[in-house]
Amino acid sequence: MTSSSPSPVHSIEDYSPNLWVTPKVHLRFDLDPHLTVVRADYDVQLNGNVPGPLFLHGENLEFLSLRLNGAVAHPNEYRVTDLGLEIFQPPGESFQLTVENRICPNQNTSLEGLYQSGSMLCTQNEPEGFRKIVYSIDRPDNMMRFTVTISGDPTYFPVMLSNGNLVSEGVPVEGKKEVVWEDPFPKPSYLFALVAGELVETTDGFVTKSGRRVTLKIFVEKGNEGKVGFAFDSLKKAMKWDEDTFGLEYDLDLFMIVAVEDFNMGAMENKGLNLFNAKLVLADKKSATDETFESIMAVIGHEYFHNYTGNRVTLRNWFNLTLKEGLTVFRDQWFTEDMTDPHVKRIKDILFLKEYQFPEDQGPMAHPILPKSYTEMNNFYTVTVYEKGAEVIRLLSEIVGRDVFKKGLNLYLTRYDGQGVTFEEFVSAMEEAYGSPIPHIRGWYHRSGTPEIKVTEEFDPKTKEWVFTISDPKGEGQPLVFVNSYAAFDQKGNVLDVGKRIQYGHVDQVRVLQTKEGNKPILSWFRSLSSPVQIQSNLTKEEIRILAEKEPDGVSRFFAFQNLIFSWFARALSENANESLSDILEIFSSSFKKNLDKTYFSFYLGFPSLSQISEHLQVFDYVRLNQLRNEALGTISKSFTKEFQFLYEENRKTIPMQTKEEIGKRRLKNIALYYLLHDPNRGFEQLAVSQQREAKHMSEEISPLRYLIEVNSKEKENVISLFYDRWKTDALVLDVWFAAQVSSGERKSSVVESLESHVKFTQKNPNKVRSLYFSFARNPLSFHEETGAGYKLIAERIKQLNGINPQIAAGLAKLFAQTSKQKGDLPKIAKRELEGIQNLPQISKDLGEVVGKIIQSL
Ligand code: TRP
Ligand code: ZN
Repeated sequence: MTSSSPSPVHSIEDYSPNLWVTPKVHLRFDLDPHLTVVRADYDVQLNGNVPGPLFLHGENLEFLSLRLNGAVAHPNEYRVTDLGLEIFQPPGESFQLTVENRICPNQNTSLEGLYQSGSMLCTQNEPEGFRKIVYSIDRPDNMMRFTVTISGDPTYFPVMLSNGNLVSEGVPVEGKKEVVWEDPFPKPSYLFALVAGELVETTDGFVTKSGRRVTLKIFVEKGNEGKVGFAFDSLKKAMKWDEDTFGLEYDLDLFMIVAVEDFNMGAMENKGLNLFNAKLVLADKKSATDETFESIMAVIGHEYFHNYTGNRVTLRNWFNLTLKEGLTVFRDQWFTEDMTDPHVKRIKDILFLKEYQFPEDQGPMAHPILPKSYTEMNNFYTVTVYEKGAEVIRLLSEIVGRDVFKKGLNLYLTRYDGQGVTFEEFVSAMEEAYGSPIPHIRGWYHRSGTPEIKVTEEFDPKTKEWVFTISDPKGEGQPLVFVNSYAAFDQKGNVLDVGKRIQYGHVDQVRVLQTKEGNKPILSWFRSLSSPVQIQSNLTKEEIRILAEKEPDGVSRFFAFQNLIFSWFARALSENANESLSDILEIFSSSFKKNLDKTYFSFYLGFPSLSQISEHLQVFDYVRLNQLRNEALGTISKSFTKEFQFLYEENRKTIPMQTKEEIGKRRLKNIALYYLLHDPNRGFEQLAVSQQREAKHMSEEISPLRYLIEVNSKEKENVISLFYDRWKTDALVLDVWFAAQVSSGERKSSVVESLESHVKFTQKNPNKVRSLYFSFARNPLSFHEETGAGYKLIAERIKQLNGINPQIAAGLAKLFAQTSKQKGDLPKIAKRELEGIQNLPQISKDLGEVVGKIIQSL
């Protein structure tokens, strides 16, 4: 919590290197949940030319003492403020500094710094949490070699961990035990971690390609030791993949993961000691869905891959966050593509980008992947920095090719090992490997907003070619480079031409011969989203239909079908008539005969959600859209009852295993059930009820719950209570149970109000808050309810969370970013509610920054 004085804005132009650095530190922790004493011994060195004051960051610390070269500093040699400790005249160009302070981990509900979760104390330091533990130069360009002594009562802290290697473990003396950890690799403060508590240790191993044995350990709270198998397998796969793909071998003898119940985000890549949100580690077939299993593999990969992209080569400053995050997301996407099905993975990633990143990029929180300024860095762990950042790296890899990309990455990692750098070092290493500059690639780091690509066409009678002009109207002043993978088809869907253009700047022309019959060819542009753009195409309905059926690229075929569905909604809305679903039905009908890969087929059959439809059409009459959607689902269901029943039966018996075949079966059977439940005659509810009762895997058990709630079945209450009875002791499964009850349907405010008084709910646990409040706020029918009741409810909860966990409160406030587009009085109501938040006497800088920006759009 900050005082009410305005918070400083950090701007990229103001960056300057550290005047002082601390290349070596010895930390000492005397652990106690109520009052922990921390001491830091630094080697301080002048890094600039002329010595000046030394500033150490420190927030919410109780200062105890300061020594300079061993001598207690006199109070007029330094000053302690809300933001840190200033030493007016350091005693030389290199000296020893010892500083001591106290903190209260069990009062720390922000989950940043040192805090208590369940039976453990643990840390979260990225981006600026270290200053809440100890006075320090808490910036990523200050690299330190760490030695860490942890002292604590072994009855409460039988396990005490930090980064690197355990170098000594003392015997308990008078109820205290001491351990010493040493990390041989220099690292910035944000990668420091400490964990202590009553944890169960599970062990596995990996032999690297050069034959070194690495010990792998996962630490969990008691009772969860049976849920680590999949995480170990994922970790070993990730280690092997990074060796096989990039030649990168793990660099310590020990790699540890800790599963933490109270965690602000997904996971954290601290050197040799990754901390994970428990929901992204723990899984068994009874309690985890197929989606959870896949996320676990992806996030374990992601954090592991940071060991090189992020840790060995780190950031010069936080503006460059995407340098490690965009790159590492790209690496984890590639990993999952290799481990599962590349087309399906690409479809999922594009769907995610369109549903979350495109709206962010058009709204009041839009920013380039390299933000120019921030007040609270925590607010910039965004889908733009992560997912759009990954798309930019993908684009670069498409330009240079994956083999050159691998060379470029190796060059980058070798040249800058142990340093903090910027995106420029990365891009120029790629250019060097490519052997040529890449004009306008840097533009992607500076321009915000999704480029809106326009395609126009003209016939050239002399050459018998159609000339397509691809332009980026906003790119005149801010040119970008694009990769445009395309294919041309005739009216029967035969391929006429396939190409990949690299477009440097805001216009390009593609020439394609007219078809044999003398027609204009049908073009599929930016296949598999070869650049993160939106395309305003002028394809006719008939042309889209041909692509939806015939495009050989499975990803583009999928999106063509989605576009056909969106275009139906557009017509149905505007003509207000009974617009025929016939093309869509035809595609359904022919797809049943095709024998497609099961998982792919399940996506292909998937009907876009309410928010995907409204986002695509920029139409925000959710009640009307929902009505149309239900009508369409009803018609599809009635038209193919036999087919869906057949599909259901064919995939009914599944084995609870994480194989491609079984995952595909579960998905197909669920999608068939989804359509059957939308039959207006409601004949299939018992099928859902018995699926829940007989389920052997969470993917089978959860769908009936979600679907019966969505269709507002009379069985709803029964499935909700049966699910609860079975899972009441498993916190992670209950998260899904809370979420399912508010994620669909109208007027769920009262459901939120009753569920938040449930014994298993607490605002202090971010997973619970995400399950209930975030799920509600992502349900447009409820959140954007026309009375404004949804806004009021969420605004109230944001105010409560501000005092508990500012980062989570600000995250929830971001969901107001879409309110300026809403109908009627909603923007006005949103503004009033946000102003109420802004007037909080103790508003955090996290929340202040978000709310301030959104209010400006209203
Ligand atoms: N660096 C983490 C990642 O892998 C994300 C992160 C940033 C984080 N801040 C956090 C994780 C706070 C947990 C809590 O993307
Ligand atoms: Zn990351």
